Amino acid sequence: MALEEGARSCLLRCRHRLEEDIKPPYLMDHMISDGVMTVDEEERITTQPTRKDQAVSLVELLLMKDNRAYISFYNALIKEKYEDLAILLFPNLPRTLTDGQKNTSDGSLSYVQAVLSEGGVPQRPVVFVSRPELLNRVREKLYRLQKDPGWITVFGMAGSGKSVLAAEAVRDHRLIEDCFPGGIHWLSIGQVEKPDLLVKIQSLCFRLEQNLDSQSLSRPPNSLDEAKERLRFLMLRKYPRTLLILDDIWDSTVLKAFDIQCRLLLTTRNRSLTDSVSGAKYEVEVESGLDESKGLEILALYTKAKVQGLPEEARSIVRECKGSPLVVSLIGALLKEKPNRWRYYLCQLQQKQFKRIRKSSSYDYDALDQAMAASIEVLPDEHQDLYKDLTVIEKDVKIPAKVLSVLWDLEQEEVEDILEEFVNKSLLFVDNNSKPYLYYLHDLQLDFLRSVDNKMSVCTKRRCLCW
Ligand SMILES: Nc1ncnc2c1ncn2[C@@H]1O[C@H](COP(=O)(O)OP(=O)(O)O)[C@@H](O)[C@H]1O
Ligand SMILES: [Mg+2]
Repeated sequence: MALEEGARSCLLRCRHRLEEDIKPPYLMDHMISDGVMTVDEEERITTQPTRKDQAVSLVELLLMKDNRAYISFYNALIKEKYEDLAILLFPNLPRTLTDGQKNTSDGSLSYVQAVLSEGGVPQRPVVFVSRPELLNRVREKLYRLQKDPGWITVFGMAGSGKSVLAAEAVRDHRLIEDCFPGGIHWLSIGQVEKPDLLVKIQSLCFRLEQNLDSQSLSRPPNSLDEAKERLRFLMLRKYPRTLLILDDIWDSTVLKAFDIQCRLLLTTRNRSLTDSVSGAKYEVEVESGLDESKGLEILALYTKAKVQGLPEEARSIVRECKGSPLVVSLIGALLKEKPNRWRYYLCQLQQKQFKRIRKSSSYDYDALDQAMAASIEVLPDEHQDLYKDLTVIEKDVKIPAKVLSVLWDLEQEEVEDILEEFVNKSLLFVDNNSKPYLYYLHDLQLDFLRSVDNKMSVCTKRRCLCW
């Protein structure tokens, strides 16, 4: 079978990057052991005078080969740590559906739906736009769990679309068949205490045991340790090659209960949660940026209009929302109710009146306030105060660590550590393209901080934020 057209054109597109970066001998070793390349072919390439010449010949050869060679080359890139390049090839991996919507062409959609609803994976939101690049990044990591267990962390700030993305990533027939034939189970975790976590694992075990024909149901595990052992047994013996999705994890101690050598994807605002667990680990960052066309698409879907027919304020609204799917959806939902208020909502956004917008929304966007408050609450007390000081940052201004070192009267290194913590918890953004790094807040965060600044008092005793 010849190389698929999509894969071929992907190779042609990425040719230049590949030729610049790869070292063919290492990659060819993998391809030979996969049986997609002969020793003669390898020799012809290695006798080329320079690394670049070798790379050029390897790409040339790949273009003449088949799908298996493409897949083998892709795997070789991963094994040799050319992850950036592998990502370029991933969308066109032969036999890999890259868009859940392709499933509709045959009976496979109902298969996908059956698997996902059995595992409690949420459906798509009514208004939904695809984010193919992010989706591919998550699916590419999911494929890494095909052979071995491991952890995928999908992280980003509140409302950046992590949960929607995680659910969408597994909505793919081929992926389920290839990687998780045992099923996919979704657990909403949130900020749980131990007893609630136990209940959640109990009901997962119950669900899993219920599906096993012969066994009579055993009594529920009655401690977290017991629950962990039960889950370990079930995943290892009865449900190998099953994916667990843990949605909205706050605390790494929760992950300890799942540290049982299985396949896991978690969504979180906190980047470094998996530090304390064992196994392979992968990360996907969800920046909160929908591009303009996606933002407009959401507004059009809410208001049942064509993108071309949207009023002139639409673009400015999307710009003001800074691409946050949550905020664009919020405005979209408001406009659906009051289609004449484009200008009004734009003005409110421009004046950063998020609070009023949130209030007048029929949506549960108190959740946004709560999410922000909760993110701050998990910081150590002294860092909460430092975070609140960030209200001094002007809108749309990025500042270096040095400025904060003056403000906080701390050594610059200490400041950098604190800022890293904020960034890892998606409470702050960093612009790595400049030297020194520049830090900034999302408008929503700044607005939130300012609006609660006066009213907020930290109840140090109960360690909660009240206003
Ligand atoms: N791909 C998308 N298309 C349309 N709306 C989206 C999309 N992703 C997120 N949203 C909107 O943003 C809201 C927040 O998304 P969610 O995935 O819950 O964010 P997070 O888990 O990062 O807090 C959703 O309820 C939805 O309204
Ligand atoms: Mg979520």
